[in-house]
Amino acid sequence: MHKNPISGFSKLSKIRKMQWVVENFFKDPDGVMNELISYWHPGLQSILDGFIENSIGNFPIPLGVAPNFKINGKVYAIPMAIEESSVIAAASSASKFWFDRGGFKAEVIDMKKIGQVHFKWKGDKELLFSEFDKIEKKLREDTKEITASMEERGGGIHSVKLVDFTDKIENLYQIKTEFYTCESMGANFINTILEQFSTTLKNYIVSHDIFAVKDIEIIMSILSNYTPDSIVHSEVSCHVEELINGQSIKNGKLFAEKFHTAVEIARKDPFRATTHNKGIFNGIDAVIIATGNDFRAVEACGHTYAARDGQYRSLSKCEIKNGIFRFWLDIPMAIGTVGGLTRTHPMAKRSLEMLGNPGVQELMKIVASVGLAQNFGAVKSLVTTGIQKGHMKLHLSNILTYLEADTSEKEKIMAYFKDKIVSFSEVKKILDKIRGK
Ligand code: MEV
Repeated sequence: MHKNPISGFSKLSKIRKMQWVVENFFKDPDGVMNELISYWHPGLQSILDGFIENSIGNFPIPLGVAPNFKINGKVYAIPMAIEESSVIAAASSASKFWFDRGGFKAEVIDMKKIGQVHFKWKGDKELLFSEFDKIEKKLREDTKEITASMEERGGGIHSVKLVDFTDKIENLYQIKTEFYTCESMGANFINTILEQFSTTLKNYIVSHDIFAVKDIEIIMSILSNYTPDSIVHSEVSCHVEELINGQSIKNGKLFAEKFHTAVEIARKDPFRATTHNKGIFNGIDAVIIATGNDFRAVEACGHTYAARDGQYRSLSKCEIKNGIFRFWLDIPMAIGTVGGLTRTHPMAKRSLEMLGNPGVQELMKIVASVGLAQNFGAVKSLVTTGIQKGHMKLHLSNILTYLEADTSEKEKIMAYFKDKIVSFSEVKKILDKIRGK
């Protein structure tokens, strides 16, 4: 067993890395080695390996499709990469439900991204603020080359502000900058500019006699993943009577009121809000991953936004007014349709193609609408049938796959559990019985 730290691991060949892993951490090194290799993709492995460090293989997650999404009158089939059962089923059922009731109406409110240079300086605060216009000019001048092509496309640096943070952390200031990054998420663009800003700022203070204190400490220069001004809105609405739907919604008004209460609970109770928002991100993350975007960034941003007034609340809202049920979601996100994995991951490229190669604003509208649909599907189930019914069907199917049941065994067991509670031990017991064990 491996006990001491290994040095130079990253410099080992891929096979050597794998050998080290299987020999140190597995009881059956040869078997595991073969299994890892069996997950390599014959055509793409070098591309996939290029995305990260120390790659030893792939971790497959299924790519599914939720059809029938009508967003601003256009119909989409949505690619979703997700491992959790029932998510795509819920999204598909919600999209179909709203397809017949006008679909989703979505709009992008703004697209501003944010970055910060955090620095410590013990000099004259008023002087720093009074000089900042000149400093800003120099910051912009020194980043002209970096911003040129983004500016040609209509983006670039929007605003540059000096923020006094000294009441919270001694001597700490920030240069808070807003950017427009066009079709890209903009992380590299923003971080490159910020690092140049920090160099320029340092040089400015050192080279201008007006500043008596020359010692400036740059703490860090980095984009903020919180982008409350890169925000998209999506909503659905219909008359409460139109909500009536087969066996699950027999009384539109009652359903609307119960649904409304469920959303109100999530507005007021962080315990429920967290689960409620998790349901929204079930849909959002799946599209974000499928399109090669950064789901950690989108999640982090959404959760901060959910707590923007000091309490963590549901991201979606609901109202019933004059007999009209309205359900909507405002969510900030920084995503792209160029850059990152969007064009280099072959499946991300195909996912974007499935969506008709949308621009970034259209993709934001799609993502928000899927999040809203997912949320509607989950809350609709919760306040009507409960979610276990749907979940258990897929859960049962996963158990049967795990137990390597064949088609005829699957059919028998599915029929047996139609009206019974599913548990692993119970399924195994019945399967053993069928197999005569
Ligand atoms: C499960 O992944 C998501 C739900 O718990 C969301 C919700 O409760 O709203 C069903």
